[in-house]
Amino acid sequence: MLYIIDSAHIEQIKNCIEYYPVDGVTTNPTIISKENSDFKSLIKEIRHVIGPDKMLHVQTTAKNADDIIKEAIALMEFVGGDFYIKIPITPEGLKATMKLSKMGIKVTMTAIFTQQQALIAAKAGASFVAPYINRLDNIVSDGVHVVEEIVKMFRIYDIKCKVLAASFKTIEQVHKIAMVGSDAITMNPELFKQLTYHPLTLYAIDDFMKDWESVYGDSTITDLLGDNDRR
Ligand code: G3P
Repeated sequence: MLYIIDSAHIEQIKNCIEYYPVDGVTTNPTIISKENSDFKSLIKEIRHVIGPDKMLHVQTTAKNADDIIKEAIALMEFVGGDFYIKIPITPEGLKATMKLSKMGIKVTMTAIFTQQQALIAAKAGASFVAPYINRLDNIVSDGVHVVEEIVKMFRIYDIKCKVLAASFKTIEQVHKIAMVGSDAITMNPELFKQLTYHPLTLYAIDDFMKDWESVYGDSTITDLLGDNDRR
């Protein structure tokens, strides 16, 4: 399972990279616009913070295939490292994806709402497809079911394209998507941190410390081992 941060907020990305096993960052025009800063400096800074080996997905804003291809090449050269161009699934997007994948440029086909959109995106050469879970749930569809069937179809036809589930609002959605075999999940930093938070964990740690301090006071294990005992 790949865990990806859906954000362009530098401090939040830094924090997630430092404390959690994160595999990369995804952005889209809405996420980038929220930062309201210089686009070039922002994506360069994200790449600097995550390093060259983690995935960085940046979405095109171009509408026709030629312009999408131009943006993809320019972004890839500018951003460097493990780069994916995100392209919404439109006829022009598919045309660009077929050409870019032949050129060896990795594509994440995004704004996926149906199983057939995912299958056709994969056939066009996308490396990832990004179905939107919460937006499906919001229209009384079933994001988990859509992803489950995409995963199943990719297995039936031995398709190498991976599923990068996106658009999450709850831990329950994240867990259910993990259970149906999505290859990757991208979510905002706040939701990501909630995945490992549990009050009972904090309660257990408090109990351990109370018991320890009742015997050893303020001394830590490092204090008790001392320099000599470590050799
Ligand atoms: O990249 C797609 C994803 O960020 C959409 O999420 O929360 O806007 O539905 P959301």
